[in-house]
Formats: sequence, structure tokens, C-alpha cells
Amino acid sequence: MRRIFLFACLAACCALQSFAQQKENLLAPTPPMGWNSWNIFQTNINEPLLKEMVDAYVSSGMRDAGYTYFVLDDGWMGMERDQNGQLIADPKKFPNGMKEFADYVHSKGMKFGIYNCAGTKTCAGYPGTHGHEYEDARLYASWGVDYLKFDWCNAEGIEAKEAYKTMSLALKATGRPIVFSLCEWGSNRPWYWAAQDGQLWRTTGDIGPYFNKAEKNKDGWRPLSVLDILDRQDSIRQYAGPGHWNDPDMLEVGNGMKFNEDKAHFSLWCMLAAPLMAGNNLEKMSPETTGILTNKDAIAIDQDPLGVGAFRYYQFDGIEIWVRPLANGDIAVCFLNRSDRTQTVTYDWAAHLINDKVSKMDIDFNQTTYKLKDIWSKQDLGTTKKLFKQVIPSNDVIVLRLIK
Ligand code: GLA
Repeated sequence: MRRIFLFACLAACCALQSFAQQKENLLAPTPPMGWNSWNIFQTNINEPLLKEMVDAYVSSGMRDAGYTYFVLDDGWMGMERDQNGQLIADPKKFPNGMKEFADYVHSKGMKFGIYNCAGTKTCAGYPGTHGHEYEDARLYASWGVDYLKFDWCNAEGIEAKEAYKTMSLALKATGRPIVFSLCEWGSNRPWYWAAQDGQLWRTTGDIGPYFNKAEKNKDGWRPLSVLDILDRQDSIRQYAGPGHWNDPDMLEVGNGMKFNEDKAHFSLWCMLAAPLMAGNNLEKMSPETTGILTNKDAIAIDQDPLGVGAFRYYQFDGIEIWVRPLANGDIAVCFLNRSDRTQTVTYDWAAHLINDKVSKMDIDFNQTTYKLKDIWSKQDLGTTKKLFKQVIPSNDVIVLRLIK
């Protein structure tokens, strides 16, 4: 009897330890943070330009604010594989090859990411990975790649789950930890199946630098706006968590929206527990843009270890309240004014209960009082005992950390 008891204790202990280890071993325990070349440069990338971006990543304070990955998107390759079937970096754009560039990124204390596609060609027409998964994975590992974004163009007749599984296994077979970012635009509902394969999956088509209504680009194609994407996140929040994230696409902060729109976009992505991939010209960014991207309190919400994204708690007349439970019992609350006019928001904390099925949070402000910290103005706005009354301009937010 005693022996059985001892054995049971040992088994329970091992299970607990392996759970803790698993958590520790996650490649992305919090949403990945980095920079990606696509939103600002598309395929117009080359070694000198990108080295400038690497340098600016450090000098602007992005690295020290927690951004880690430096990711080359589409356009880094030559138009054909070499005679051995290997991918090559475009020799004009990268005269010193990709290994040298990866070494440069690593020497500055960042991790290196690269892009390819599950189809026969990438979206911009460069060689895709279909049928070359294992050799491409080995090549990336030999260059020191730490992150792979894997797209979904030119994939007619290919089964998404199978294609992403194959690439995931190929990456794992290299023995190098490589974050796998699935980019099939939510077409096959990856939130149901991709957590086994990778660390993040795109939930929608491509973002553009628009807050409310996106304009068509020069090819007559209309990207999604920040609000278009926001509206598709609430219903899938329960599928994300530590190690596996919904990816509402890369940031457009610093790419032409107004200051308040950039600030609202960044705030909402932090509320959603989204990967934070900056997509602007780091060398030319304004102090306002740097201030948004490196706001410590916003990043702390994004990176909160509980990993539960926000839900839309309230919606009326263009005002929304998004609520995100945090690991230490604090709560992040974002008041969004998506209407076209300035509005005064009045909110009586004590008059409403807040419950969340996903995190099992149950808040009654008559029972617990929180202090309110405005994460943008840095002001202390009193407590939840007092009526909250603030003016919010159109397309702007107030984000509070409710401190227990
Ligand atoms: C797709 C992706 C984008 C970008 C381009 C590159 O559209 O969704 O994020 O990677 O391809 O061609």
C-alpha cells in the first residue's frame, strides 16, 4: 500500500515537473516581438539598407524595449534555386550571402527570421518551398535562422494542415529552435489546429496603414484596416495562449496613420496579446513613433505571462470597452472611440460586474477596489470607487491598468 502511495507521489511529481519544463521550453511563452521588412519595403530590400535597420533597431531602443526578432520577408531570394536545388540569397541584394547577414543580426543581440511559402512560389514570385521542406529547413538552420514566416500563395491543390505540419516537422528535425509563424491568413481556421505545429498563426488577410476604412492600393487591391482586423479577433481569443498565438498581422505604426490612430492600433494589439512585429522604417522614425513602439506599460500588457487576450466587454454608439485579465490580478481596460466625433465617456465601475469565461475572471468592483493608471499619459486617475469620466477624441483610446 505504502509503495503504491510512494509511486503515485513520484508520478505526480514527475508530471508537475514536466509541465513546468514544458512551459519553460516554449519557444514563444509570450507573443513574439520583432521587426519585419514587408510593410514598409516590400521586396525592395538589400544588405546595406537592412544593416541600417539592424543598427537603428539597437540605437532607437527597440531591442532594449523587448523586440527580439529581425525578420526578412518576401524578396530576399534569387529568382531560381541553384543547380543543387538549394535556395540562394539574391547575390545583388545580399553580396555577402545570408549567413553573413544572420551573423550581423546575432552580433547585435537580436534573433534572425526569414520568409518562404508553402506553395510553389512566394506571393512575390520567388521560389516556394513545396516539395523542398527538409532541405530548406536544413539550410535555414545552417544560416542560424531563429524564426520562419511561412506564407500561402500559389498553393492550389495543396492541403493546408498537411503542408504546415510537414514544414513544422522539417524545422523540428533540424534540432535548432525555430519559431514557426504560419501565414495562411486564417483561410483554414488555423486556431483549431496550428498550435501543434507553430507558435503563431495569422488570423486574417493583410493589414494596410489605415485605421478605419482601408483604401485600395496601386494594384486595385484593398488591404484590411486596423478596425477590420480587430472585429475578427474576439471570437477566437480562447484558442491562443502561452506558446501559441493568434496573429492579427504586423504593425503599421509609423507608416502614415495619425498619431492617435497609431497609438490606438498599438494599444489594441497589446490588449489582444498579439505578436508585435514593427513594420516601419526604424532609421527614420519620429520620436512619437518610437514613443509608441517602446511604451513599457503597453508592452507589459502585451507580454503579460497569463497570455489571455482581451474581450469586447461593451459596445455602444462607437465606444467600446476591451478588458484583459493579467497574471498578477491586475486588469487592463481599453476605452476605444471608433466613432467620427470626440465623445465623453462616463463609466461607473461599481454598477457592472465583469466576468470572463476564458480566464474565469469574476470582478465586482463593490468588493475590490483598484487604482487606475493611464498607460499613455502616465497619470494616476484615482480608483474604481470614483465615477470615471474622460474625453476621448475620434479614433483614439484610453488604456488603463487597474492595479489591485
Ligand atoms: C502575403 C503575406 C504578407 C507578406 C506578403 C509577401 O501577402 O500575408 O504578410 O508576407 O505575402 O509577398
